[in-house]
Amino acid sequence: MTDRYAVIGNPIAHSKSPWIHRQFAQATAQALDYTAIEGRLDAFADDVARFCAAGGLGLNVTAPFKVEAFALATHTLERAASAGATNAMKFDGDRILAENFDGIGLVNDVQVNLGVAIRDKRVLMLGAGGAARGALLPFLQAGPQALVLANRTRRKAQDLAANFSAMGPIEGCGYDDLRGERFDLVLNATSASLTGALPAIPASVFAPDALAYELVYGKGLTPFLTQAQQAGVTRLADGVGMLVEQAAEAFAWWRGVRPATRALIADMTVPLTTQALA
Ligand code: ATR
Repeated sequence: MTDRYAVIGNPIAHSKSPWIHRQFAQATAQALDYTAIEGRLDAFADDVARFCAAGGLGLNVTAPFKVEAFALATHTLERAASAGATNAMKFDGDRILAENFDGIGLVNDVQVNLGVAIRDKRVLMLGAGGAARGALLPFLQAGPQALVLANRTRRKAQDLAANFSAMGPIEGCGYDDLRGERFDLVLNATSASLTGALPAIPASVFAPDALAYELVYGKGLTPFLTQAQQAGVTRLADGVGMLVEQAAEAFAWWRGVRPATRALIADMTVPLTTQALA
């Protein structure tokens, strides 16, 4: 029987994970089957158990199940524990292992694909929800000079930063506190772009040679990226590289072989020139 994997989420129809993993399987000559499962909102644990009972070996987990998946695990790895959420599961007998590759996928995209070192840089992360939280440990492990976590609701950023303060130079603040501050790397980990909204940060946060990174992908020039561009930033990126890199990490975890990512990312990249229609 062919080894079985899947991505589970709700909705799931637009997930690019099956396509990405099938490309990886072909490129690494791994025989496996990778499908998409629309998880039931009130029966996630049951859906996972069913997949497992049918011989499933691993799942990618996407919205809205990342926290529930974390709670289901019998063994939690460090990155999943620090994120408080899971984006990849592995089934090994009675053991359910939980990992989270979103943050390391982002760090790899920034450092390897985009060629921007994080060490000794000033990093600004916008947002204090799951997307930001998942990225904090891998970012701090990359050794920035400072990691400032700024959020519309200041208190949430301060509380989250306090939870990570033992791991590196992190502080939480509100958007108003960013006046007069400059950063080499500015990442938008809020969900503002999904509704076409702009996090209300001062345009002066971007250093002249900064990289502006939008974690959402496929939305073209979002309000955040437009603001960065108008502030003179020439290095703009969206989360397509992060998506492919986290997939490659999961594939390596499951299969013991790490697929190449560069050509796939190039294939999937939509030029950041105009606002995407969808
Ligand atoms: P996710 O898990 O995708 O990060 P979340 O936990 O709902 O989603 O968090 C959403 C994040 O986007 C929060 O940091 C939220 O700010 P608040 O904590 O102040 O709500 C942020 N966000 C959403 N819409 C925003 C907007 N229009 N402007 C600025 N921040 C926004």
